[in-house]
Amino acid sequence: MVEKFVLATHNPGKLAEMREILSALGVQVVSLEEAGVSVEVEETGTTFSENAMLKAKAVCTAAGLPAIADDSGLCVDALNGGPGVYSARYGGDELDDRGRCMLLLEGLRGQTTRAAHFSCAVACVFPNGDTLTAEGRCDGAIAFAPIGTEGFGYDPIFLVHGMGKTFGQLSGEEKSAISHRGKALAAFAEKLGTYLRE
Ligand code: IMP
Repeated sequence: MVEKFVLATHNPGKLAEMREILSALGVQVVSLEEAGVSVEVEETGTTFSENAMLKAKAVCTAAGLPAIADDSGLCVDALNGGPGVYSARYGGDELDDRGRCMLLLEGLRGQTTRAAHFSCAVACVFPNGDTLTAEGRCDGAIAFAPIGTEGFGYDPIFLVHGMGKTFGQLSGEEKSAISHRGKALAAFAEKLGTYLRE
């Protein structure tokens, strides 16, 4: 029997990515809409893992099905790891992706280190209370100005370590092969495969 999982996101890109990765395990991934659930979860955790777990638990309870959630963000050394779990809200609701990038560049003016990394945590909660978690990280540095038009969020200002290119200069496929989310999903798929076999 094909196991059905709900993905706790409204982002169609994440759903497609998750479907592709987990289809190899014979797992079906459905959206919140397809599962007929509507839950708003406040991301009150102080870590990516806590927030991913909060979302997965809430959706599992609401749907009565295993639920998968992720949480991610950009951590900048000179900002003590910020914006971190506040990446989506950095600078307030009135800013768009471009505005948040410009605010971050401004905040780093005069700093001696521009080291940064993206982090992603994936959590899965089963109706019997079992949980699985996985994490991924991608190291790099903040560029001096936006470069590239691909991707979203902070992609144009994140220079990938050892590549000399920003995420904004990579195709979706190139980015997934090295990104925090790609790594977290690959690690999660492996753990889920083991869990389902046992
Ligand atoms: P969430 O995990 O969808 O809640 O994303 C949190 C926020 O982190 C996003 O709104 C982006 O601002 C930022 N972020 C997370 N992953 C990426 C990425 O791969 N590229 C650029 N920005 C990202």
